[in-house]
Amino acid sequence: MAKELPIAPPRIEGSTALVVHEGVPYCIVKTRSGEICAFVAACAHEDRAIVPLRVKRGDIVCPHHGARFDAETGRVSDDRGYDVPTGLESVEVLTRPDGSRAILVRKRHRKLLSKKERRRVAKESASRT
Ligand code: FES
Repeated sequence: MAKELPIAPPRIEGSTALVVHEGVPYCIVKTRSGEICAFVAACAHEDRAIVPLRVKRGDIVCPHHGARFDAETGRVSDDRGYDVPTGLESVEVLTRPDGSRAILVRKRHRKLLSKKERRRVAKESASRT
């Protein structure tokens, strides 16, 4: 079952924001054409969280071994020689009647990361607030 999670998308085209829900990081992207899209920030190389989130030349960069993902599609753009079987999982973005935005978070997103990784992300996220 999915749950709506309110988000505040980035205002500037080509920029990203990180939202954390129950230890699962979500990358919110405002594309160069102004669309809002979202991905689970989980790297399939070792099922690790892409936290801290860093974007370089339009690519989301995994902090662990440097694999790169296209920030607008989530596809692997450079695996840096590692076996990265899939890109970032896409997340549905909703526009509510009042114009605010939300993403649909699903239980299966949690399975993309180990419990240990989710704990790390939740702890880091709590220390930033
Ligand atoms: S965990 Fe992301 S590149 Fe290794």
